[in-house]
Amino acid sequence: ASVVSGPSSARGSSYALAMRRRPRRNRKGAAMRGMYRETTVGPENFILPLFIHDGDDNQPISAMPGCFRLSREGLLKEVEGAYSEGIRAVVLFPKVPDNLKTSDGAECFNPDGIVPRTVRMLKEKFPELLVITDIALDPYNSDGHDGIVDKTNGKIINDETVEQLCKQALCHAAAGADIVSPSDMMDGRIGAIRDALDGAGYTDVSILSYCAKYASAYYGPFRTALDSDPRFGDKTTYQMDPANVREALIEAELDLEEGADMIMVKPGLPYLDVIKTLRENSPLPIAAYQVSGEYAMIKAAVANGWLDERKVVMESLIALRRAGADFILTYFARPASRWIAEDREAARKY
Ligand code: PBG
Repeated sequence: ASVVSGPSSARGSSYALAMRRRPRRNRKGAAMRGMYRETTVGPENFILPLFIHDGDDNQPISAMPGCFRLSREGLLKEVEGAYSEGIRAVVLFPKVPDNLKTSDGAECFNPDGIVPRTVRMLKEKFPELLVITDIALDPYNSDGHDGIVDKTNGKIINDETVEQLCKQALCHAAAGADIVSPSDMMDGRIGAIRDALDGAGYTDVSILSYCAKYASAYYGPFRTALDSDPRFGDKTTYQMDPANVREALIEAELDLEEGADMIMVKPGLPYLDVIKTLRENSPLPIAAYQVSGEYAMIKAAVANGWLDERKVVMESLIALRRAGADFILTYFARPASRWIAEDREAARKY
């Protein structure tokens, strides 16, 4: 653009660039910006992860300020609050006492275990709430792994683990779970679980597959919350290498073939490219999991006065949606829903 002179400015300055395209025209006010905003996010896009335990108190989780291992009462209050804010989906993560942990994780399909009991209670009180359960052995496994460990060589045994996961899924379906969500990353588990559910008549129970779940350090606070750290080794023989994206395409293809209804990318913000790649290559709805470490990082910076919580949380949620996530598992679901309601109210008034 060249500089021209003439009465081009309301301020009376004669300095003006000769430009036909001025992108700022489209940003000139809230009404203008609102008219063509490409991405929105609302409580209907959120799944609220909730930690539960068998105890009478709500126990604070140190690296996740504002999150608690909830008692029965605490959970009901939390869900009631979330429901009133427009949230219609929760996923449950149990803290299981050591004396119930075994090397085969059999507590995971105890019909009187904490998860099925909680599912029954929630479905009774909130019939319209989508109750999602996590399918994996780690909270119940004395080795802290998502699968059964072969004691002779320390390997995670795939197919025997899948058999346990099927029993777990059936147990949760029998309790009334709307969606089961395998987070274990064993091979073939989606198909096996689909067959098991269908064989038992649970054709309506959906499967949300942790499709591209990376071996991530961002799960640290979650494992502390549930005391589910692997007792030895790491999860790199089943969770994906953070360096890879093509592998996610294979997982997504298998999940589609095997009958997954929805797929997930986890963690969230560091893996926006994975979300986008799957969005472009899979017809399935996609979830992003903004995990415990992402939550902890924001909370820590906010506690130091370094970031504006509301703005940074909303920006991260919009970014996940923009990359292609249909819905988001986030520990910020409740505050974000309140902020969105405030913004919508304010937009009616300006
Ligand atoms: C376990 C599971 C994990 C998370 C969800 N399900 C941890 C892991 O794989 O070790 C992490 C969630 C978070 O960090 O918020 N199957």
